[in-house]
Amino acid sequence: MILYTILLLSLLATLSILTTTMRNRISPTPTSYKVKKNLLKLLEEESPHKIVDLGAGWGTLVFPIAKQHPEATVVGYENSLIPFLFMKIRQMVSKTPNLMIERRNFYKENLSSYDIVICYLFPLGMKKLKDKFTHELKNGTSIYTHTFSIPGWTPTQKWKVKDLYRSTIFQYKISKQEKVND
Ligand SMILES: C[S@@+](CC[C@H](N)C(=O)[O-])C[C@H]1O[C@@H](n2cnc3c(N)ncnc32)[C@H](O)[C@@H]1O
Repeated sequence: MILYTILLLSLLATLSILTTTMRNRISPTPTSYKVKKNLLKLLEEESPHKIVDLGAGWGTLVFPIAKQHPEATVVGYENSLIPFLFMKIRQMVSKTPNLMIERRNFYKENLSSYDIVICYLFPLGMKKLKDKFTHELKNGTSIYTHTFSIPGWTPTQKWKVKDLYRSTIFQYKISKQEKVND
């Protein structure tokens, strides 16, 4: 009976991940160890008030970032139920009171209060986010995205990571021209 229940729950969890992956067009693949290490090194130089990971997955980035920046509020948006629940449970045992895990569709969230935006998504997702970034992000906000860049934008900086896929981390800094009145 216990084995049957475990099998049924595993099947339901797999189905849930698969259906959300199809809807999102991306699976909850975690950032690799080497990319994470490089990204954390880059974030050491920053002193943000609010950081967001758009699609936090299993929490591979948000937990270490929240520990690295205890003075900042770190938000992880994730709409896939199983990874979201996994992060909620993980948070019970990790000392990260500054981390907010939210089950939301990040396309519908207002991003204007964030100083740092983190992404590990997919080409169409980056294309969809471009307009949102243009309209909502404030001057000075940094976007760090790895593997997939923002189409048509020139990164402020980029770094090649010595991992299996030779991944690239891209940084974009939002710089809005002030409107000058005649
Ligand atoms: C490739 S994973 C990256 C996970 C994590 N950021 C990391 O680097 O380890 C992308 C995540 O984005 C989530 N996602 C995709 N579209 C989303 C949306 N519209 N709203 C919230 N989460 C989304 C997926 O469920 C998946 O977990």
